[in-house]
Amino acid sequence: MTVGETVLEVEGLRVEFPTDDGIVRAVRGVSFGLGRGEVLGIVGESGSGKSVASLAVMGLLPGSARISGSVRFGDAELLGATDKALSQVRGRRISMIFQDPMTSLNPVYTIGYQIAEAIRAHHDVSKEAALEQAVELLDLVRIPNPRERLRSYPHELSGGMRQRVVIAIAMANRPDVIIADEPTTALDVTVQAQILEALDTAKRETGAAMVLITHDLGVIAGQADRVLVMYAGKLVEAGTADDIFYAPRMPYTLGLLGSLPRLDVKTERLTPIGGAPPSVVNMPPGCPFTPRCPLSQQVCEHEEPAAEPTTSPDHLAACHFSEQLEGREPGDLFGADWRDEAAAPAAERREDAR
Ligand SMILES: Nc1ncnc2c1ncn2[C@@H]1O[C@H](COP(=O)(O)OP(=O)(O)OP(=O)(O)O)[C@@H](O)[C@H]1O
Ligand SMILES: [Mg+2]
Repeated sequence: MTVGETVLEVEGLRVEFPTDDGIVRAVRGVSFGLGRGEVLGIVGESGSGKSVASLAVMGLLPGSARISGSVRFGDAELLGATDKALSQVRGRRISMIFQDPMTSLNPVYTIGYQIAEAIRAHHDVSKEAALEQAVELLDLVRIPNPRERLRSYPHELSGGMRQRVVIAIAMANRPDVIIADEPTTALDVTVQAQILEALDTAKRETGAAMVLITHDLGVIAGQADRVLVMYAGKLVEAGTADDIFYAPRMPYTLGLLGSLPRLDVKTERLTPIGGAPPSVVNMPPGCPFTPRCPLSQQVCEHEEPAAEPTTSPDHLAACHFSEQLEGREPGDLFGADWRDEAAAPAAERREDAR
């Protein structure tokens, strides 16, 4: 649910990859809207389907992927759209920033050439005019001596600078949506902060809505208006940043918060979630978080809960026992005793508890 106009609407998105080991169900029915100018954080551990979902939106998945559902951008349906139609949208109306800037940059061209070409691909302007715009863009993302930098090749820049060039390219055509997939993961913490600042500039200058994908809730804190939490290919919680950070209603979200160093909440110590996310090949029935969940009961092993409204109609959580999370701290649930047992199957644990 979004306030104001929705620029991007994803409905029932599913992505499967047939493999020799079985069907990889990477995205299992994800729905969300993105409001104009809003920042939507998507968080979840490695393998939860964040990248696959965003690549599906951009039409960038390999041909082997089986994709269904709907991705509406304004009046246009993007799923199943022709390459020609998608090329009008990609890079112009929706742009994407990846974890490794070298996936987006070409090592054999200068960055001036690459920014100018990104502009000229969608606008009928002279090379000189495009290069002037490139100088302005580089200045906006705080590249020192932008005019001289136009002649640099990507390998002559630091990783953080390269990522800022990619952000400059992403904002070049004043898109409506910028999707940033782990834009800071490959960088050290001080550079991370500079990249987040450059993303903020991109948002301010273009008015674009932003999807900020990360496995680190810390990156989203203070940036996102709303947050989606993904686990094993599904949305397990969705809400405003305040809902997610201060009143989570899915044990997994509480677990993520417990593993995050925070300045705003007094915590005795960090409480990581034990165990690992499940394989999304041949998944058993039930809630995929069950083996790692301190609240799990028998019903969790058989019935996968749907995302239902909790504290407000727009705060959704997929948990049979979400009301039990009211007022709970990560340490209550994922404390030291629990951590040691987390790797054991749920049935065994209940046996022990008797
Ligand atoms: N082309 C592919 N063929 C088969 N399986 C794939 C393919 N691409 C992704 N997957 C699988 O889909 C699942 C979701 O992957 P995805 O890359 O979306 O995770 P993620 O949430 O982005 O994780 P990370 O934080 O590591 O980037 C994983 O199990 C992955 O192995
Ligand atoms: Mg990813």
